[in-house]
Amino acid sequence: NGEKSSQQQQQQSQVLNKKRKREDNDRDGQKRHQVKREDNDREGQRRHQGHSGKELNGKSERLNNNGKGRNGSPVNSSLKAKANALLSKRKDLPIWAHQSEIRQSLAKKNVMLLVGETGSGKSTQVPQFLSTEPWCRPQMVKVAKDGKGPIEDLSVGGCIAITQPRRVAAISLARRVAEEMGTPLGNSSPASTVGYSVRFDNSISRNTKIKFLTEGMLLQEMLRDPWLRQYSAVVVDEIHERGVNVDLVAGFLQKMVSGKNEGRGGIPLKVVVMSATADMEGLLKFFDAGFKQPTAAVNGKGQKAIKKDEEETEWSGISSDDNKASKKAYGTPNGTVSKPGPNTDSKSNALVKKHKNGNPEGDESAPFTEFDPVKFGSPHISVCFIEGRQFPVKIFYTPEPVQDFVDAALHSIFQIHYKEPLPGDILVFLTGQDTVENLEQLVREYASGMSPELPKLLVLPLFAALPQAAQQRVFQPTPPKTRKVILATNIAETSVTVSGVRYVIDCGKVKIKQFRNRLGLDSLLVKPLSKSAAIQRKGRAGREAPGQCYRLYTEKDYLQLAQANTPEILRCDISQAILTMKARGIDDIINFPFLDRPPREALEKALLQLYQLGALQDDGAISEVGLKIAKLPLTPSLGRVLLAAANPDMDCLLEAIDIISALSVENVFLNLTSEEKKEEAETARRDISRREGDHLTLLATVQAYAGENSDRKAWSERHFVSHRAMQAVMDVRKQLRAQTTHLPISADDIVAYDSRTYAVTPERAGLILRCFLKGFSHNTARMMPDGSYKTIIGNQTVAIHPSSGLFGKKVEAIMYNEFVFTNKSYARGVSGVQMDWVGEALA
Ligand code: CDP
Repeated sequence: NGEKSSQQQQQQSQVLNKKRKREDNDRDGQKRHQVKREDNDREGQRRHQGHSGKELNGKSERLNNNGKGRNGSPVNSSLKAKANALLSKRKDLPIWAHQSEIRQSLAKKNVMLLVGETGSGKSTQVPQFLSTEPWCRPQMVKVAKDGKGPIEDLSVGGCIAITQPRRVAAISLARRVAEEMGTPLGNSSPASTVGYSVRFDNSISRNTKIKFLTEGMLLQEMLRDPWLRQYSAVVVDEIHERGVNVDLVAGFLQKMVSGKNEGRGGIPLKVVVMSATADMEGLLKFFDAGFKQPTAAVNGKGQKAIKKDEEETEWSGISSDDNKASKKAYGTPNGTVSKPGPNTDSKSNALVKKHKNGNPEGDESAPFTEFDPVKFGSPHISVCFIEGRQFPVKIFYTPEPVQDFVDAALHSIFQIHYKEPLPGDILVFLTGQDTVENLEQLVREYASGMSPELPKLLVLPLFAALPQAAQQRVFQPTPPKTRKVILATNIAETSVTVSGVRYVIDCGKVKIKQFRNRLGLDSLLVKPLSKSAAIQRKGRAGREAPGQCYRLYTEKDYLQLAQANTPEILRCDISQAILTMKARGIDDIINFPFLDRPPREALEKALLQLYQLGALQDDGAISEVGLKIAKLPLTPSLGRVLLAAANPDMDCLLEAIDIISALSVENVFLNLTSEEKKEEAETARRDISRREGDHLTLLATVQAYAGENSDRKAWSERHFVSHRAMQAVMDVRKQLRAQTTHLPISADDIVAYDSRTYAVTPERAGLILRCFLKGFSHNTARMMPDGSYKTIIGNQTVAIHPSSGLFGKKVEAIMYNEFVFTNKSYARGVSGVQMDWVGEALA
């Protein structure tokens, strides 16, 4: 056997080498990736607790087994059978033993903090535990709907919201919980009790009792009903991810749980905050502070508007001195990336105990610490700690830094595939759609030359912009004699659980959005990940059995990583967040309870940008335009474009929707590396290329693709366009059309638009670009006498990205969709514009 496998290995190596030679690129010089086996089995196997399920609450059993939907309709018996089959798995989850504790705590206190490693069962079980509690039933109350006006009979509660940072997690969790409960999913049947709501996709029924939704969607719901009257509880999941939206959600909820709930007829909203790695002490203080300093009513009526002269008010809030200790201990620095270091703060040391199953040596221990609820408990908040269940994971580092992680990952995949037996799927962490697609192509190519005796490789990409159906494929069981290779962005770090994974390959990098003050805008940067993220990635290999993690960086580099991710609110453009707060009636931004207060410069920039967009009035209050933008599921800039396009003078809403849909995916066009292919693509795309630039080219692409009725896949291949990306674009387009019906756009308009043969005239193209300038006047640059471009605001040099159709062209001025920084500053998604249009937009 050993001989056979070594022969196979040799054979495969030859195939690989032959193929590689043909690839005449600069990777040739690369050394074969070597991994140093290092016995890093320090963690030891954690207690694997099996539970008898004795604590199963009778009600929950009835809910699963009574065979009826809430409205009494018979539930499909195969759904019921599947739910019964899943019950034993549920009982085996670490959280199961805490079921009564969680129920009892929430019956007594309205806020609960719950920490447990990824996979312990938080997201799937907590909503099921709570949905049968007596406080979770809808109740009729007599209240004034909007705080004033006549008293009405209104229903409060009955539903549980669980927020997720990502769409894919919200959908896959809803699907899983529906299966576990034996109910159809979402809007597929009126009997369904589990649904989800994500941007561009709302799948709920009138009986939805458990609703997974993205943080952004919950914020949108808060704009419609600040009291969240349909909910009995909001579960904030994955708070450790710390995107801007979850920080806002936390701020709003902190105000709400400590208030009087006037708008809910006095019925409290229960809040559960869950995390895999959270700063429990900081969170406890944060929610406790709400009770200590009663805040104004949640609708913010009567609060002062922020005026320019008031911006000098002292910067105060929850992230003040008494929170510094926890920041030091948990590495949530103010705007800078922290370096790990010995924690000398005795106060925090006293508060923090290493988790009993963790590794006493430090670095590779469970990334969270245990909070002592007795000593630091609050009369309003309970804390629950779920013990982890993690099998040992061996870590391999590269002996030297890796130049090209895509190449290194390719080698590691085949190294694992030849050496390691089945079962055991591979999960590869990459930076973005581009690297995922590059590696996908390479793996497919090499796999096609593999010996037929070897197990098959099933390559599955997973990134946020992937169409729904493709995303869900990673969750399907691996077919026999096959190894799944999932190529993912950090989406798979904590948000989604993919079963079957035993091998993790971690590129060590992550693509993050970062605000660049000098430029006054966000750009996407590829950065080293944090230690806490590296530990999460590694952990994905040890969920079901002992695993292996291949880190494509050296151990020295690992030790130098920052401890934790910087919260997004400290590093990104926060204009959308500010607009949401203003639309929600919070005018006094300064006194909003932020988990981490955004830097003053960022706040000022955001306010300025909102003024420029016309979303705020001179006195700082939200304008009519601002209110309309806040209700669109888009950034303020793109929202402003849509409003401009809907204006009857412009009348190009459907065109704007097409372009915005195309901008919502990372890249519509295939990433081509060889010059030969690039030239071929240029010729093939002649009919969709527009000399005005990328916006109009995208429009032509969407229109041509949508107009292609016979074979869209073949059309895409002919044009070197990503069929997959275009499917996602069409999803977004459909949803945006449906969600802008309050703007003047009728079904007839859409039919007329869709049945037209397109040729956007230069005049109309100008009109469309002028609409985009309404939202992007800050993303403009003019040509200098030497042919270079300098930004109109800030006077910074910026070059047109090689991926742009305008690359190498000289035009009076450019407008761009996004700013990227690799080795220099690039504008991406570029169109040529006239200076007087820019002046018109800035006026
Ligand atoms: O929230 P947490 O990471 O603690 O765990 P979870 O998401 O509730 O997952 C618990 C278990 O449910 C996982 O280990 C999977 O076995 C299963 N699960 C699944 O099969 N499919 C999903 N989409 C989500 C969870």
